[in-house]
Amino acid sequence: MTKNTIIVNTDIDKGKINKNIYGHFAEHLGRCIYEGLWVGEDSPIPNTNGIRNDVLEALKEIQIPLLRWPGGCFADEYHWKDGVGPRESRKRMVNTHWGGVVENNHFGTHEFMMLCELLGAEPYICGNVGSGTVQEMSEWVEYMTFNGESPMANWRAENGKEEPWKLKYFGVGNENWGCGGNMRPEYYADLYRRFQTYVRNYGDNKIYKIAGGANIDDYNWTEVLMREAGKMMDGLSLHYYTIPGDFWLGKGSATDFTTDEWFITMKKSLFMEELIEKHGTIMDRFDPEKRVGMIIDEWGTWFDVEPGTNPGFLYQQNTIRDALVAGLHLNIFNNHADRVQMTNIAQTVNVLQSMILTEGDKMIKTPTYHVFNMYKVHQDATLLPTDANVASYENNDDKLPAVQASASKAANGDVNITLCNLDYNTGSTVNVELRGLTNGVANVKGTVLTATSMNAHNDFENPDVVKPVEFTNFTIENNVLTVEMPPMSVLLLTAAQ
Ligand code: AHR
Repeated sequence: MTKNTIIVNTDIDKGKINKNIYGHFAEHLGRCIYEGLWVGEDSPIPNTNGIRNDVLEALKEIQIPLLRWPGGCFADEYHWKDGVGPRESRKRMVNTHWGGVVENNHFGTHEFMMLCELLGAEPYICGNVGSGTVQEMSEWVEYMTFNGESPMANWRAENGKEEPWKLKYFGVGNENWGCGGNMRPEYYADLYRRFQTYVRNYGDNKIYKIAGGANIDDYNWTEVLMREAGKMMDGLSLHYYTIPGDFWLGKGSATDFTTDEWFITMKKSLFMEELIEKHGTIMDRFDPEKRVGMIIDEWGTWFDVEPGTNPGFLYQQNTIRDALVAGLHLNIFNNHADRVQMTNIAQTVNVLQSMILTEGDKMIKTPTYHVFNMYKVHQDATLLPTDANVASYENNDDKLPAVQASASKAANGDVNITLCNLDYNTGSTVNVELRGLTNGVANVKGTVLTATSMNAHNDFENPDVVKPVEFTNFTIENNVLTVEMPPMSVLLLTAAQ
């Protein structure tokens, strides 16, 4: 056991942790939308208006605040008019980007908005810049949000929705440096300025416009976008996936990996902090007030697809390693809540670092799901500064901090601390010093997610191998919690005053 100190200043208010940091992403990719969320009204799988009930209930439990749709790369090939009107007459097309399968457009704007309503989540729609037109994008916004007499509002009413929807978050394209058009930042910045002009605010519906942002460490993209179009955007996106190997030569297996790969995965997860700081520094130069949100609308692990599955479907298993990746990222996002206003893990069901996996009528919750359930206490809470003085987790000649944390104060005064022990092999004794409490700690409750092997995961035969349990391995003295963290663990401590 190594020794570590984490100071939590409970009397310093660092601002609100936007609940949208806990946002999600669902693309028309593999079995995410079809099978994962949408089974259709006639399915034998219990559903509400076509949305499967088991997945709905599970997502409601983690208080999913916001859902991004329809892509991803799919967004810049999606023509929304194909996905409205009577389902049986909707256009059947080829999902060219993801597996070349037939897309029957049965899940379109009305179905997505209904899903968001059932979830109690805000919709975040990504429009088509790459292969779409200004008119098409403009009419989509009119279709969804115009109240009164207009060609698109009339069509919406004919399709069964008299009242407009409320739509706040709208993305003007996706990955326009790549699948969204292979553009240079100067060209996209001009296109962004043009397209966003016609993303109108109708009535009292005010749209938060998100510009397509950089890939990983393309700081020049952020620089050009902020300089040329910063004043015309509310948010600027950033995409970064945790890939232990090489994107093209072999990303690494989701379940069969070495201790070196464990280490590199932790290291690459922590790189998110450097990305936020460096992109954030550029944003600060153009926007010192931090008006423009950093929107990390794709993140998470990306491994080789599960052997035997369609390579274009990006289905992967999810282990305790993924849980640590989620915990580390969410702590980083919390700690940068002054600039990070939204993030969307990729993707909700059956794709990449999913919350949920399905097989026919069966559903399992992944270790990542459990992390989101534990961390939901941070949504819209007040960020508290943490100061960590921790030992190193060493591997060959490299090292990382062994323990990482974030903390927040809930509306009822509870202090929630989430901690990750990155080391798969060694436990950590952590002294968590709660400073600035007026009345001292009344009681503490703990929940831990851990496992006995690095690749422990849930499957359809054994759905509860990795699940949170009550944690009591701590003592309290003078507002200092001495906590015995197991190896490879994610921990939530709730201190009531
Ligand atoms: O999430 C999978 C894909 O990753 C998205 O479609 C794309 O935006 C990114 O490259």
